[in-house]
Amino acid sequence: MSKPIFVINGPNLNLLGAREPEVYGAQTLADIEALCVEAAQALDHVIVFVQSNIEGELVDFIQQAGREGAAIVINPAAYTHTSVAIHDALKSVDVPSVEIHLSQPAKRESFRRRSYVAEAVHGTISGFGADSYVLGLQAVSNLL
Ligand code: DQA
Repeated sequence: MSKPIFVINGPNLNLLGAREPEVYGAQTLADIEALCVEAAQALDHVIVFVQSNIEGELVDFIQQAGREGAAIVINPAAYTHTSVAIHDALKSVDVPSVEIHLSQPAKRESFRRRSYVAEAVHGTISGFGADSYVLGLQAVSNLL
């Protein structure tokens, strides 16, 4: 069995469905997990799907993915725009990673235009709602 792709979710994404649905859509994180399981199956991969509101736990998940995973798809949520720790963690692991966002941060408040993560990943997919996760899985699968 090949190693799993880690799908890592940052703060407040546990509230998807109820949180600003006009920005992030009506699907819950559990709906998105089911979508990812299905998309990964079609690509012949398995996934580990995790979420935390805590920056250090996200760093731990990235390190775990470096040891046990094949690749990373990460929505760092608000930590995208602040976290040197997540940037460093992604640079420390030897597996390909893709940053994804439900919304298109470039079209929103100016503080969302800076991504500390973009410099540490292979590429970024944003603005496609839940499909950003599916596109992220396809992108990272092509890198394997
Ligand atoms: C987000 C965009 C971020 O700016 C925001 O802080 C989030 C979600 C997205 O998926 O669109 O929490 O990462």
